[in-house]
Amino acid sequence: MQKLRFTAVAGIAVAVVAGTLVWQTQAADSKDAIKEVMKAYHKAPKGTDPTCKKAADGKATPEELKKLVAGYTAMAAAKPPQGDAASWKEKTSKLLAAAQALEKSAPDAAAKYKEAVNCKACHTAHKPE
Ligand code: HEC
Repeated sequence: MQKLRFTAVAGIAVAVVAGTLVWQTQAADSKDAIKEVMKAYHKAPKGTDPTCKKAADGKATPEELKKLVAGYTAMAAAKPPQGDAASWKEKTSKLLAAAQALEKSAPDAAAKYKEAVNCKACHTAHKPE
């Protein structure tokens, strides 16, 4: 009987520790999702065009657009380090919708994307100095 009780307590302890780890990992993921998208698609090594520029010019490949949509999906779900949630939701859903429209080759999708991927407007509201 004694042994059974010990096993149960140990089991709960393991579950709590595991749950905390999973929670922390997810929190870290969503926090870094924004930076990852910025580095991967908004900024490019010198001399090359970032994905966002190709997308705005209507020159991104289907593969690039797929990654962009996935990146913006993660970014929209993340919490910005600064600024209010409603503004973040509005800006990120516009970006996501525009990238999805590009994926479907919708007319004027490139123009919509160009407007949505406004670095300065979003950084002023949501990027800490
Ligand atoms: C919808 C909002 C939004 C748009 C649009 C946006 N950014 Fe950002 N960007 C952010 C936020 C928020 C951060 C801060 C992330 C953090 O510190 O966690 C950031 C950070 C960055 C960083 C720093 C990344 C790092 O490693 O710390 C770079 C570089 C960057 N953005 C480039 C750009 C460029 C270039 C554009 C335009 C083509 C752009 N961003 C458009 C929201 C946006």
